[in-house]
Amino acid sequence: MMEKVTINFVLNSEKVTVAIEPDQRLVDVIRQEFGLTGTKIGCGEGDCGACTVIIDGVTANSCLVLAAQVDRREVVTIEGLGDYEQLHPLQQAFIEEGAVQCGFCTPGMILSAKVLLDKHPHPDREEIMGAIAGNLCRCTGYTKIANAIEKVVKQKR
Ligand code: FES
Ligand code: FES
Repeated sequence: MMEKVTINFVLNSEKVTVAIEPDQRLVDVIRQEFGLTGTKIGCGEGDCGACTVIIDGVTANSCLVLAAQVDRREVVTIEGLGDYEQLHPLQQAFIEEGAVQCGFCTPGMILSAKVLLDKHPHPDREEIMGAIAGNLCRCTGYTKIANAIEKVVKQKR
C-alpha cells in the first residue's frame, strides 16, 4: 500500500481535510470518505457523465480525476446544490417536468446544467443540448431533461 497523502479543499462550501491514497479517484473519495453518494459511478471511463462534479466552476468527470488533483481547489457535488427542504430550481424543475426516471444520470445532468446557466443564463435549446451532451441518459430520451432546464431559463427572464 502506498503512503497516504493529505489534501485540503473546499467541498460544497466547507473546508475539508482528508488523507487519501495518491492514486485514489476523486469519485471514490467523495463517495467513500464523505458519504456523498449522489455522485454516481457508471462507466468509470469518462464516457457517461454520471460522476460529474464541478471543480472551480467547470464540470469534470470525477472518475477520471485523482483526488490529489483537487488539493486547494473547490469541488461542488449535487449535495451542494439543494436538499429535500430546499431544492435548487433545477432540481425542482426536473421533478416537475418528469425529467427523472431511474435517476442515475440526474445529479450529473443537473450539475452540467448549473454550470451552463451560471455562465450563460439564457441558452437556447441547442446550447442546452450541447451542455448535457456528455451526460448519458438511458431512460428519458433527453426531451424532458431539456424541457426542465428551459423551464429554469424562463424563470430567470
Ligand atoms: Fe465517470 Fe462514467 S463514471 S464518466
Ligand atoms: Fe435513467 Fe437518465 S433517468 S439514466
